[in-house]
Amino acid sequence: MLRTLLASSIRVARYHTLRTPVRGFAVTSIRLHGHIHTPKAGEELKITFITKDGAQHTFDVSEGDSLLDIAQHYNLDMEGACGGSCACSTCHVIVDPEMYDEIPEPTDDENDMLDLAFGLTETSRLGCQVYMTKELDGLRVALPAMTRNMTVKDFQ
Ligand code: FES
Repeated sequence: MLRTLLASSIRVARYHTLRTPVRGFAVTSIRLHGHIHTPKAGEELKITFITKDGAQHTFDVSEGDSLLDIAQHYNLDMEGACGGSCACSTCHVIVDPEMYDEIPEPTDDENDMLDLAFGLTETSRLGCQVYMTKELDGLRVALPAMTRNMTVKDFQ
């Protein structure tokens, strides 16, 4: 009896082992926040971040990189809570008034989020919505003293 039961169990186990499909495991590259492109020689664009303590940090960056990605790449204090999807205001920057007009106009979504930014100024922008261009070579932006990160209780 025991031998029969054991043989039956082995047959069942073999059946399931043979019938179980082998599942593939796919891996895609991860898009990390703070990923920026290495500028080509002679095509470097300069950007300066002024941090809360007044320190200036100047970097050579590529056209097309967002201010959020640049700041995060260099470990500056820019949170980017929504991952750059224009759904928070934690990437708030204050743009040097001399270059503000070189940046394309903010969208309605960006303006809506800017309305929630702590310490909003006339030249405030969201770092995730501003991308480096040749016209912005030499851009200077300041990080505000504080940012506001909306939480569930802010909507209650
Ligand atoms: S990272 Fe959230 S709006 Fe820019």
